Amino acid sequence: MTLAPTPTPQRLVIAVSGASGSLLGLRLLQLMQQASGWETHLVLSSAAVLTAKLELNETRETFEALATQVHSNKDIGASIASGSFRTAGMVVIPCSMNTLSGIANGASSNLITRAADVTLKERRKLVLVTREAPLNLIHLRNMTLATEAGAVIMPPVPSFYLGPCSLDDAVTQMAGRVLDQFNIDVPGMKRWDGPVQASTAAQNF
Ligand SMILES: Cc1cc2nc3c(=O)[nH]c(=O)nc-3n(C[C@H](O)[C@H](O)[C@H](O)COP(=O)(O)O)c2cc1C
Repeated sequence: MTLAPTPTPQRLVIAVSGASGSLLGLRLLQLMQQASGWETHLVLSSAAVLTAKLELNETRETFEALATQVHSNKDIGASIASGSFRTAGMVVIPCSMNTLSGIANGASSNLITRAADVTLKERRKLVLVTREAPLNLIHLRNMTLATEAGAVIMPPVPSFYLGPCSLDDAVTQMAGRVLDQFNIDVPGMKRWDGPVQASTAAQNF
């Protein structure tokens, strides 16, 4: 018997929850459209739809048009709810404290938290772009719990050292750094390579 090769294309589960920073989710989906050989599986929470309307004046359809496949957050029978459906991992962007809590405490009551639970149990990569400020002890404890279970907590913090020219620039940079976690390269993304100017500044420090 010959074993079949790993299936192509690769799949990435993308969940958008109702935290501020709707544009981060939208930008990640836009970047993924240029990633050849990748399939995206999108889930939006109902709070994410509200936040997208309030922050961007965008509808659910704008996000859904960018994904390969869309799943309802109520559909806990979707493909991504099972570990036997192979994926490279999952990103929750942005990730609300509510969704973080559900994931950290293993409450698989909707498709987002179920798919995240599956990602952790299969030891696949789970990246949580957690957005809240300031953080209370419950938030911090839930981040610790999720980290202990194998998740990567990746708050949307701009790379100030790369000198973003605008919020849009910073958002693209942050979404690109999330994709780095899955070895997906965003062409032209700025990276720190120790320019001469900076090392001179460091010498004078
Ligand atoms: C405009 C707006 C901004 C919000 N920003 C945040 C935020 O940054 N972090 C957060 O945890 N919740 C935020 N919330 C609250 C969440 O949307 C709310 O807790 C919701 O129940 C989260 O549900 P979900 O996890 O299913 O998406 C925001 C809500 C709105 C309407």
